[in-house]
Amino acid sequence: MGMAKMQQLKPVLHEFGRKVYSTVIRHGADNTGLTKSKIMFGNLFLHIQPVKVHKRTLNFKTTLCAGLITFYLFLILVGTGVLLMFHYVPSTHVGPDGLPEAYQRMLNLRSNVFWGVFTRNMHRWAAHAMVAMMILHVFRVFVTGSYRRPREFNWVIGMICGILTVVLSYTGYLLPWDQLAYWGVKVGTEIAKIAPGGEIIRGILLGDNEVGGEALIRFYVLHVALLPTLLTVFIAIHFFRIRKDGGLAKPDDTSGDKLIPQSECGEVRNTSVFKSARSYQLVEIVKGTEPKVNEEVNQMVFSWPKLMVRELIVFVLVLAVLSVISLAYNAPLEGPADPAHPTNPSKAPWYFLGLQELVSYHALFGGVILPGLLAGLLLVAPYIEIFVETLFGLKRGNISGVYFGKERLLENSLFMTIFIAGILFIIIGSLFRGANWEFVYPWIPTPGGH
Ligand code: HEM
Repeated sequence: MGMAKMQQLKPVLHEFGRKVYSTVIRHGADNTGLTKSKIMFGNLFLHIQPVKVHKRTLNFKTTLCAGLITFYLFLILVGTGVLLMFHYVPSTHVGPDGLPEAYQRMLNLRSNVFWGVFTRNMHRWAAHAMVAMMILHVFRVFVTGSYRRPREFNWVIGMICGILTVVLSYTGYLLPWDQLAYWGVKVGTEIAKIAPGGEIIRGILLGDNEVGGEALIRFYVLHVALLPTLLTVFIAIHFFRIRKDGGLAKPDDTSGDKLIPQSECGEVRNTSVFKSARSYQLVEIVKGTEPKVNEEVNQMVFSWPKLMVRELIVFVLVLAVLSVISLAYNAPLEGPADPAHPTNPSKAPWYFLGLQELVSYHALFGGVILPGLLAGLLLVAPYIEIFVETLFGLKRGNISGVYFGKERLLENSLFMTIFIAGILFIIIGSLFRGANWEFVYPWIPTPGGH
């Protein structure tokens, strides 16, 4: 092809390239509100979030990022979990080397699998961290009263996410099929026996009278298929409702908050349909009460790029911290599961150790009645508040979004008492219990103790 022909083709190719680009990226590169909105709307993952958020949403203190980090850890768990699935086999079948296959696969991760130990470590530490971050998230939501109207039901959805997370973590605990896994699950399922109907649930879960090959298959299927799917669905509902409830809970008056200055929000050329600089247009045309936004309009910022950049930074930080921990510390792996030789003490995973500690005082009261009652009260906490307010004709209005607000002194005191007691019991069960569940000081080594 001659030079002249090439010159003629250049603009055609340029135009073609531009057209192809516009099939993928549909927004401009300018700084208008319309572009910023299109970026958020036009992307499946971003459009889960609103085009505009209140400036408070950008503050670390507002949420401690706890819910977001819980979600990120779930994503990391799915990623590393899929990688582990390429290698793992949920079988207790004893191979020629005398080791159960599931356990053998764990050993193999160390020697034969590229970055196998690292992947397992990431998965293990992320699982523990997810439960811990979720507890912090519940703490934040409660003490700021963020489950109050209209977010009551999202609290219940959150609780379902919480239960699924704990069961997901627990079912994974058995898979390495080592002594820690075997006896940890054995103890947990023994506790289940005490509860009314617990025997039946235990039977369904184990598929047998004892923890064995059937239990491993069932735990595996629950762990890799059923529970992650259910959790994904419930997290989606949780997030959907956060949006429908008008974003994060906040007090009516945010003038006392330290919010980022307007100058940092970047100037927006408002050439868009979003003239009023807010994202409530639809609400205005349907009949109903308009959200109280007018005096707060100035506090709204475009999610792109401020919120998105912050979310990305949090994700990178989570990944970095988890990677460092996973390089430095290996996930535990003891000897292969041996039903004939109990570990002493046999401990459930840490988040059940408060329960195990209570069981050691009184099986039925400590293991079933008290925790059942507390879990039930926590599940319906927002509705108890509504009930008491209705009973006493209390009109407290919007008192959410503030840490330890003085109007909620009673609720927060009750919650904190139970919360701190729960953490203390977990610490005692984890660190201060040795062989035969006797009290030990963790800093004094016990002969033969763990
Ligand atoms: C897998 C578990 C969970 C995930 C991934 C999750 C995620 C989130 C996220 C990302 C938010 C937005 C605010 C933030 O980042 O903190 C949020 C808000 C919320 N979560 Fe969760 N959550 C989980 C479990 C729970 C649990 C166990 C509860 C309650 C028992 C709960 C109740 C709420 C409520 C009421 C809000 C709205 C708070 C507000 O408007 O300030 N969540 N959640």
